[in-house]
Amino acid sequence: MLQTLVLTGANRGIGLELARLFTADGNRFVHACCRRPDEAAALQELAGDHAGRLAIHALDVTDAGSVADLASATGSAPIDLLLNNAGILNPRQTLDDLDFEAWETELQVNTLAPMRMALAFRAKLRQASNPRIVTISSQMGSLARPKGGSYAYRSSKAAVNKAMQGLAVDLAGEGICVVAMHPGWVRTSMGGPEAEIEPVESAKGIFAVATSLTLDDSGRFLTWDGREHAW
Ligand SMILES: NC(=O)c1ccc[n+]([C@@H]2O[C@H](COP(=O)([O-])OP(=O)(O)OC[C@H]3O[C@@H](n4cnc5c(N)ncnc54)[C@H](OP(=O)(O)O)[C@@H]3O)[C@@H](O)[C@H]2O)c1
Repeated sequence: MLQTLVLTGANRGIGLELARLFTADGNRFVHACCRRPDEAAALQELAGDHAGRLAIHALDVTDAGSVADLASATGSAPIDLLLNNAGILNPRQTLDDLDFEAWETELQVNTLAPMRMALAFRAKLRQASNPRIVTISSQMGSLARPKGGSYAYRSSKAAVNKAMQGLAVDLAGEGICVVAMHPGWVRTSMGGPEAEIEPVESAKGIFAVATSLTLDDSGRFLTWDGREHAW
């Protein structure tokens, strides 16, 4: 049976490579979400190349109405995998230039949205045979790495890690596996040109991990290449 995936932030960066990989694997149907489908040229091209296997949806993950509309638009079929990939990193995060308003937005996108998506798709995930929620977090949220700066980003990813750990406990009884992942330091507009790996390498690793998860893995924080990451 076709495995169904909901993917956020699918129009560029790691998300676009994930959309490409999951669509290339003939066994999947991808609900690829982005804020502005009209401007998502690469995603539209992918949909054209794989007719009937990828649907593009408009989604702003910070907008509860938009998330609810997406949940309706994806129909009543089970969802096998929810991949919370959308994220932001605001550059104004030093002690001398701390933007509190931007910090709140970062919490909305990086922390609250994955929870909102999880709740919106909980019932459809429950219907799948091996349902999984994978949230792309960051090593920058790890409490095991004492670093300064990037206050908003670090705290938003630390918070989503804790939220996913709790969700793993609460959804275990429903058979839903929940993990957080660090995608590597990736050459996207967020990671910058100095980053260590290409988006496709990160996406290949995330694909391999996400497609092999079972309920026994729930509550783990993993790297893109399948290693355990310290919380
Ligand atoms: N790159 C790295 O080195 C790195 C390292 C650790 C973790 N991560 C995490 O990996 C994930 C993907 O990052 P990336 O490097 O691929 O970043 P990216 O190239 O900047 O892409 C970010 C994606 O998130 C989407 N997004 C942002 N705000 C959104 C919103 N309100 N609603 C819906 N979509 C929204 C963007 O859509 P628009 O095009 O509409 O803005 C874009 O598709 C993020 O969660 C990031 O925190 C990245």
